[in-house]
Amino acid sequence: MRFTIGQIKDMREKGMKIPMLTAYDYATAKMIDEAGVPLILVGDSLGMVVLGYESTIPVTIEEMLHHTKAVVRGTKRSMVIGDMPFMTYHASMGEALHNAARFIQEAGAQAVKLEGGVAMAEVVHRVVECGIPVMGHIGLTPQSIHQLSGFKVQGKTSDAAIRLVEDACALSDAGVFAIVLEAIPAPLARVITKKVNVPTIGIGAGPHCDGQVQVISDILGLFTDFVPKHAKQYTRLSDMIRKAVADYVGEVQDGVFPTEKESFSMDESILAGLIQE
Ligand code: KIV
Repeated sequence: MRFTIGQIKDMREKGMKIPMLTAYDYATAKMIDEAGVPLILVGDSLGMVVLGYESTIPVTIEEMLHHTKAVVRGTKRSMVIGDMPFMTYHASMGEALHNAARFIQEAGAQAVKLEGGVAMAEVVHRVVECGIPVMGHIGLTPQSIHQLSGFKVQGKTSDAAIRLVEDACALSDAGVFAIVLEAIPAPLARVITKKVNVPTIGIGAGPHCDGQVQVISDILGLFTDFVPKHAKQYTRLSDMIRKAVADYVGEVQDGVFPTEKESFSMDESILAGLIQE
């Protein structure tokens, strides 16, 4: 049985911190699931850390569904949340509902996430009304990177902080089961966490949120183009992979790999017959 939105809300009530990670493929999702992580986000960060785009904007719904399906196949316990990509929930209510439904019906996710606060409240309300759990996302919303003039910490002025509190309250009232707070000052995240009655999940939002989310490639040291300030590398897989690849190349070049252990044998008499012919 997978984690439910009821259990996630209970965790907040009980003061238990909620860990969440992104995943984009079957094998990684399986390890995260086995580690007992309650929430897995198939984030549109996929575009940057897996597909090599410069931002999340080019990511299509087909790409998101493809990777969400793989993550769903790799998991048994974690709730899988599909990230709705740029402009798939803005043009009309019908399109937003249709695309949210695709994550649930086609890809097998249990919830969707979308970016935006007050402006998205009506969409959130309708999607939730259709029976699809929604996670909100405010603060630094990467799909609006051009409007925000870059990847910058949000909510630092009094007006901006008030707007973020209003965004969080609007999402909570609209029925989200949790809200991602990205790149906002820790004291503001604490205020928002106190004001709303759903769990807040921080990324670069300090320790006072109800949970934390990180991009798996950042905590594993797998994505090396840049390391965000909010990320902590728990290991450096990129170094290990580089070393393993160099060792492999060296052994192939030196004729050290493969050995008998990695080879298949056959009846020598058959071989003798072949050689005679
Ligand atoms: O796409 C993503 O990975 C995200 C998280 C950073 C919250 O939205």
